Amino acid sequence: MQDNIRTHKERKFWSKNASRYDQSIIERHWKIYPSLLDELASDLGTDNTVLEVATGTGLVALKVASAADQVHAIDISPQMIDVARKKAEETGIDNVAFSVEDAYALPFGDGIFDAAICCNALHNMKQPGDALSEIRRVLKPDGRFIAIIAGVGESLKFKIALTISTLIGQLPVFHKLNLDEFANFIGKSGFAVVTKERLKHPEDKMALLYVISKKEE
Ligand SMILES: C[S@@+](CC[C@H](N)C(=O)[O-])C[C@H]1O[C@@H](n2cnc3c(N)ncnc32)[C@H](O)[C@@H]1O
Repeated sequence: MQDNIRTHKERKFWSKNASRYDQSIIERHWKIYPSLLDELASDLGTDNTVLEVATGTGLVALKVASAADQVHAIDISPQMIDVARKKAEETGIDNVAFSVEDAYALPFGDGIFDAAICCNALHNMKQPGDALSEIRRVLKPDGRFIAIIAGVGESLKFKIALTISTLIGQLPVFHKLNLDEFANFIGKSGFAVVTKERLKHPEDKMALLYVISKKEE
């Protein structure tokens, strides 16, 4: 993978926080995750070859593995992938292949995946459109794509807080969309939107925006 200012900015925060990501970030700020993971597993169906882009510590990949045939899960941060691999080893899950890759240049052939997921990450990428063209390229015709982002664009307060955090080199949030803007973005990137919904646990400050789509020819 080519290292540059963009890849450094996208990976720095996550690499620094990989060992504490599950407890200090997900369990603390996103109480919705257990039901989100259940919903993802049920929306994906069974016996599929699945790609997860920006897997982080593998929370999604390891959850959907039991129903999938094979899962390939990539992330730009080597530290996040180390944590994910360790969890796979500890739990004996052997149908997930984790690797360090850039979402903008996926190392897979055209049209090989039944389904792809990108959970809580497109807003953390500087050029999410480039990742979407790659996801579209590697999906089979009619392949299913489930995309989830943090609903930063749903409130001015979140937009301001996350703009400051990105500027001072903390949590990087390069795109701040609401549900309609996000669904439109997916729709304009070569996918037909099937459903869109907001998911929010009462204890969470922010919602997650959940869009199911299909690759358009
Ligand atoms: C908020 S975490 C989400 C991790 C996981 N999907 C989850 O739901 O827990 C965002 C992830 O996006 C990854 N990421 C950011 N830019 C990326 C890129 N260009 N290619 C691959 N992964 C990227 C980060 O390294 C980080 O692990």
